[in-house]
Amino acid sequence: MKRRVFSGARPTGRQHLGNYLGALQNWVSLQDEYDCIYCIVDVHALTTLEDTSSLQEDIYEMVLDWLAAGLDPQKSILFVQSHVPEVMELHTLLSMITPLGWLLRVPTFKEKVKIQPGNVNYGLVGYPVLQTADIVLYKAEVVPVGEDQVPHIELAREIARRFNNLFGDTFPEPQAKLTSFPMVLGLDGKEKMSKQLRNDIEIALSPEETLERVMTAVTDPARRYRNDPGHPEICNIYRLHGHFNPEQVDDIAVQCRSAEIGCVDCKTLLAEKINLALKPFRERRAASAAKPKFVKEVLADGAQRASVIAKETMREVKQKMGLI
Ligand code: TRP
Ligand code: SF4
Repeated sequence: MKRRVFSGARPTGRQHLGNYLGALQNWVSLQDEYDCIYCIVDVHALTTLEDTSSLQEDIYEMVLDWLAAGLDPQKSILFVQSHVPEVMELHTLLSMITPLGWLLRVPTFKEKVKIQPGNVNYGLVGYPVLQTADIVLYKAEVVPVGEDQVPHIELAREIARRFNNLFGDTFPEPQAKLTSFPMVLGLDGKEKMSKQLRNDIEIALSPEETLERVMTAVTDPARRYRNDPGHPEICNIYRLHGHFNPEQVDDIAVQCRSAEIGCVDCKTLLAEKINLALKPFRERRAASAAKPKFVKEVLADGAQRASVIAKETMREVKQKMGLI
């Protein structure tokens, strides 16, 4: 039997190149070797969202991008967290065996307290417990995530271990599978590519819009005039050539240093390469978007399949905890 993978992402709407290179690409490639479950964690999103008016739209747009990028609902389970409410039940039960001290130590919690001191809600403290419930409800063994999530997976292991010790072997201890991808910088060339910072390039843009976005990117400030030699190693456009134009990236470094190529040409070339790489995505995306019920059906089917597993686990958990 294939080992099970579980991962989740908050519903952030249209995905950008950072999401694709950092996570999605990896999720897509795991689909053949593993039994994969990918979840849109809408309940987790509520820990930081006060305005939920765009939540449904964000879920829809994100799923279109997931499908466009190659997540295959025939192979993997794609579903929305709250559509399988057993996870909230399990969250409550796991919260009874999770020492508060473990949660208050989690670095992401401390960060959130700094970012939103006016909204340190109970759910925020329990965030990693809900995340643990996500993973162990499906008895997943492998969790593909970025570096920032490692403390959460460590905590999930500790909670799973504690449950097993108290009530008998039930859950595998999940393992983080790090996405070994260098951080993708945004168009400002300084911060991580992010929707909030508006320094991103969305997968779903048209080729023309992509070119426009790329043109706004900050390059090497030393190249004020066309003949100024550049320093590709500090330029984000150069990095992106590394992802989308690996055949020419070395030549570009040489031509940038000798001022043979100007930034406008360099960017135009990059946009062409991005557009070439994204062409099949955009076609798939348009095809999905053209079928009005398609996303709904994919998510309903995913929730149905997930719920079969969830119900079975919950029966076992309740039995072991003495609830039934
Ligand atoms: N906390 C994760 C993030 O912010 C999202 C997430 C929720 C998740 N549940 C999960 C990731 C379960 C992996 C497994 O990115
Ligand atoms: Fe960056 Fe290309 Fe301009 Fe060099 S030529 S600074 S690599 S955009």
